[in-house]
Amino acid sequence: MKAIVVAGARPNFVKVAPLIRELRATGMEVDLVHTGQHYDWAMSESLFVDLGLPAPDANLEVGSGSHAIQTAKVMVAFEDWLDRHDADQVVTVGDVNSTLACTLVAVKRGLPVAHVEAGLRSFDRTMPEEINRVIVDAVSSWLFTPSSDADENLISEGIPRERIYQVGNIMVDSLLASLERAERSAICSDLGLSAPYGLVTLHRPALVDDPERFGPVLEALHDISSLVPLVFPVHPRTRANLTALGLGTPASGLTLIDPIGYLDFLKLESGASLVLTDSGGIQEETTVLGVPCLTLRENTERPVTIREGTNRLVGFDPDAIRAAAVDALDGTSNPQRPPLWDGHTAERIAKVLSRAEVEAEARSAVGVAMPADRTASIGA
Ligand code: UD1
Repeated sequence: MKAIVVAGARPNFVKVAPLIRELRATGMEVDLVHTGQHYDWAMSESLFVDLGLPAPDANLEVGSGSHAIQTAKVMVAFEDWLDRHDADQVVTVGDVNSTLACTLVAVKRGLPVAHVEAGLRSFDRTMPEEINRVIVDAVSSWLFTPSSDADENLISEGIPRERIYQVGNIMVDSLLASLERAERSAICSDLGLSAPYGLVTLHRPALVDDPERFGPVLEALHDISSLVPLVFPVHPRTRANLTALGLGTPASGLTLIDPIGYLDFLKLESGASLVLTDSGGIQEETTVLGVPCLTLRENTERPVTIREGTNRLVGFDPDAIRAAAVDALDGTSNPQRPPLWDGHTAERIAKVLSRAEVEAEARSAVGVAMPADRTASIGA
């Protein structure tokens, strides 16, 4: 019995690292397939090094493209790879195009799919990731969710309860396992940065592909950087748009840098007085770190980070962003750990999948086909 774990883009690597470790610890045979959606050293290999991830067993090298081209290229390449390799189940994480493409290929071959980080919904179908989430969850056999709101979303979409396993947040496994090493990062001294400072990450098309939104948001960042220095590791998509807008030159308090490694990023994030972001994972990490987070979006698929954490949705209005930054710099926040965000999520997933493997082997030994619905219950 063999599990194929799929990863394609930067946030996926953070999620598969603890998963592969724990699946292999149960004795399961696991191959890691990297689709190549992200391919730059800073967006891909550097995370493998920082997370102690073994080199992938395959790299499909699909690269960039429109949604249709990228999704189609992953589908063709993954199907071809599966034609030549054994597989009994496929494990996907997150909501990127690689997650969708590999899920579709697997289920159409009759391979059961486990989706980690299932059930998150922004209820905004203009967001490409929301389309990916809804489709992946509809056809996956095991839905591993990070929080109760995700369970409720799946149930309201008619997903049978026996497919849903609330296991906690897998990014927190990587975060807690890496904090000590991140503390030793020299990034702050390399950048000449000392507290207090703020950290910025922006890469969503809804913001950075729209100059009417992105221009005023950058002006707000410039204003905030007169209160507290801001460091902004710039995603390749954002860099391209900054260049196109002629906005690539740093203002005095706003330092633009190239994308940085996972440990360097954690160091900056954990020491920041304020984070401004449109990332999903960073809303979760700041909650666990107790760092005030302003999310420059109109919705979030991670409401638990607002209800129980340090996150605040501020939208795109520059005045609202400035005011929220002033509030956040004046206030205090405490680290929060929503239920099961405890660093043991991968263990819970491995327990379910390895038990399913034993059951499937027993069934195939007596000639019974493996059902799509799993009934194994999880002892957290
Ligand atoms: C993708 C995910 C998004 C995730 C983000 C994390 C989808 C639909 N989106 O968005 O959910 O939050 O990754 O970063 O899957 N590029 C490079 N080098 C790289 C990778 C990308 O230069 O290593 C550039 C290319 O010009 C590419 C652009 O970035 O066209 C966008 O990359 P892509 O993977 O299509 O989407 P992201 O914006 O990174």
